[in-house]
Amino acid sequence: MILVTGGAGFIGSNFVLDWLATCDEPVVNLDLLTYAGNLANLASLKGDARHLFVHGDIADAKLLKRLLEQNRPRAVIHFAAESHVDRSIHGPEAFVQTNVVGTQRLLEAVKQYWQALDGVAASAFRFLHVSTDEVYGSLDKNAPAFTETHPYEPNSPYSASKAASDHLVRAYHHTYGLPTLTTNCSNNYGPYHFPEKLIPLCIHNALKGKPLPIYGDGQQIRDWLYVSDHCSAIRRVLEAGTTGQTYNVGGWNEKANLDVVRTLCATLDELQPRADGQAYSRQITFVSDRPGHDRRYAIDAGKLERELGWRPAETFETGIRKTVRWYLDHADWVENVTSGTYRTWIDQQYGK
Ligand code: NAD
Ligand code: TYD
Repeated sequence: MILVTGGAGFIGSNFVLDWLATCDEPVVNLDLLTYAGNLANLASLKGDARHLFVHGDIADAKLLKRLLEQNRPRAVIHFAAESHVDRSIHGPEAFVQTNVVGTQRLLEAVKQYWQALDGVAASAFRFLHVSTDEVYGSLDKNAPAFTETHPYEPNSPYSASKAASDHLVRAYHHTYGLPTLTTNCSNNYGPYHFPEKLIPLCIHNALKGKPLPIYGDGQQIRDWLYVSDHCSAIRRVLEAGTTGQTYNVGGWNEKANLDVVRTLCATLDELQPRADGQAYSRQITFVSDRPGHDRRYAIDAGKLERELGWRPAETFETGIRKTVRWYLDHADWVENVTSGTYRTWIDQQYGK
């Protein structure tokens, strides 16, 4: 079996669902269920003996030891993290606690478990660390996309904490020989994306008749990847990646934020027109910029394609359409997650 951390969050839950749709290998899913973790994402697995959910913290060394010894996974896929840049600006400490301290505790528990495995199991074992392109910092307009050898220049407390976790993974490989793999992926979007991030927030606000908040001039560029493509990349790296290596994952889809939101609006105009017949783009509103806002991210996913033959299946257009359709069909999911704590965050970030 495999052990997944953070499998009740956005990408982790998509990964668990896709994993069990493509194979029968059981999954132990360790998640603290912070505001971002939601068991409703995994509702379709209710009663499925292949999925064991464990409520707990990756920083809990005792729990980790017990989980590893009882379940004896052949791999750990580490998604659990605090993941929202704006929250990291308001409260960096939780990011250090989970992303840095939590990752180190997990690495230490996994190292001890791995060192006690017999030779064959030990050499087949993998620790796959899921990270972000944000560790590389911000790119100038015409600079080439990030490759795996780009220097680390994290600019937000979130990206700094992820960079630290990447370095710890590297150190556990270099010092102890732990068979690690690291993936650095660009911005994801798709089903079960918590509506604090740009794409789900704008779909949600559009349908509620609320402003679509664009930070600054809206010309910041992100490189978008549909979440199931990220999941297939992780499966491929797990299966065939070389230990100690890093693989960049991206969709070759650089877009300015304003263009992303305009595309969302046009898709909604078509799939669920406003009652008054006006365009959703009328709701676009420019708001204060994010402090330290990175201007551009772009991923060169060439190594993953050349060495492991991975390519994304979705284009931005097909992925956005699927995503908008999913949110229209799952209004109940959105209502559930936009409860009390979510509303406090929205008031704090955007004003009442
Ligand atoms: P998310 O915030 O939606 O989910 C994080 C999950 O981790 C939640 O279920 C939460 O309950 C759980 N968690 C948080 N702290 C925990 C702890 N101490 N112990 C156990 N579980 C804990 O995040 P996401 O968007 O799904 O991102 C998953 C991973 O992918 C993160 O490591 C993130 O850095 C990385 N990543 C995300 C993106 C993106 O666009 N969302 C892109 C590249 C990489
Ligand atoms: P986000 O979804 O928070 O992802 P990240 O910061 O990890 O890239 O933001 C994507 C881009 O959208 C980023 O440039 C910030 C911008 N943004 C807005 O313009 N308005 C918003 O309300 C949010 C949440 C983000």
